[in-house]
Amino acid sequence: MNETLLKVDNLVTHFSIRGKPIPAVRGVSLEVKKGKTLVVLGESGSGKSVMLRSILRILPKETVTSGQVLYNGEELLHKSEKEMQRIRGSQIAMVFQDSLSALDPLYRVGEQIGECMRDHGTAAKGTIRGKVTELLTKVGIPSPETRMRAYPFEMSGGMRQRSVIGMSLANTPQLLLADEPTTALDVTIQAQILTLFKQIQREYGMTVILVTHDIGVAIEMADEIAVMYAGKIVEYGDVSQVLGSPAHPYTKGLIEATPRPGQREELTAIPGQPPSIANMPAGCAFAERCRWATERCRAEQPEYISIGGGHYSACHLTESSTA
Ligand SMILES: Nc1ncnc2c1ncn2[C@@H]1O[C@H](COP(=O)(O)OP(=O)(O)OP(=O)(O)O)[C@@H](O)[C@H]1O
Ligand SMILES: [Mg+2]
Repeated sequence: MNETLLKVDNLVTHFSIRGKPIPAVRGVSLEVKKGKTLVVLGESGSGKSVMLRSILRILPKETVTSGQVLYNGEELLHKSEKEMQRIRGSQIAMVFQDSLSALDPLYRVGEQIGECMRDHGTAAKGTIRGKVTELLTKVGIPSPETRMRAYPFEMSGGMRQRSVIGMSLANTPQLLLADEPTTALDVTIQAQILTLFKQIQREYGMTVILVTHDIGVAIEMADEIAVMYAGKIVEYGDVSQVLGSPAHPYTKGLIEATPRPGQREELTAIPGQPPSIANMPAGCAFAERCRWATERCRAEQPEYISIGGGHYSACHLTESSTA
């Protein structure tokens, strides 16, 4: 299977703050093949969530998004809100970063999942209860018949997260956008949920974009990796290219700042902070933190340089494979 399910081209998203456009996503292009997992890696504030929300078009009203988002060859940015509502939750589902807020505290978990199926008409009335039980079993919730009657506050964090993942899968979406689905959980539950994701993905042939700031999660889950910094993808390639032979200084910095098993030497954190999105520099957004930065880096934004085999880096210092 080598078909493209989602192709994003030059996606730009501006918030408007006191009438001034503030760029959070600054020209993102990516492509995800059917059945594959793209991991988006990057530190806090790099625009990962805004990028996912731009694809599904769930952003505040005054936000302006441009570029192309082709899903199965159809442009999502030109669809009406009504058409988008039909697509959200049925063909494309999202697991939100803050999963607690994805559940309504006033309704039982089973009712909420059932509601999701009813909204999209994917299950006949008499079958919903059985389907919810089946789904909760699939996401590893013990005694689903009893658990489906629980309110969100009666569940542990791990159970709630499983329920939210269950809800996102209720209508067997083709594309799942998962925004840090395991960040709030302890390591054991995190591993269980990632295994569950893979199982479900295999079973449904689902395509996934998974956002994380955890390199361990990326290694575990990714076919391809997009490293995001200050609203742009700075490095792109398959998992062995990006994490095995990183080309961009930011990716190198992220890897050096990550503990490896058995490591004794001290970790090196990337110095400084990302620039504020309200005040982006003229040149490379990473230049201020980069130990190799030159005058050119501070003056001129780097283009993507192909390193070969679908591996790209947006850095003036990257050596092109064709050079
Ligand atoms: N509704 C909004 N209005 C204005 N600015 C926003 C809004 N939502 C996000 N931002 C800004 O956009 C930038 C990108 O935010 P985003 O939430 O996408 O980061 P992220 O990479 O998901 O970070 P994290 O890892 O912390 O979740 C940040 O500077 C953030 O402050
Ligand atoms: Mg986020």
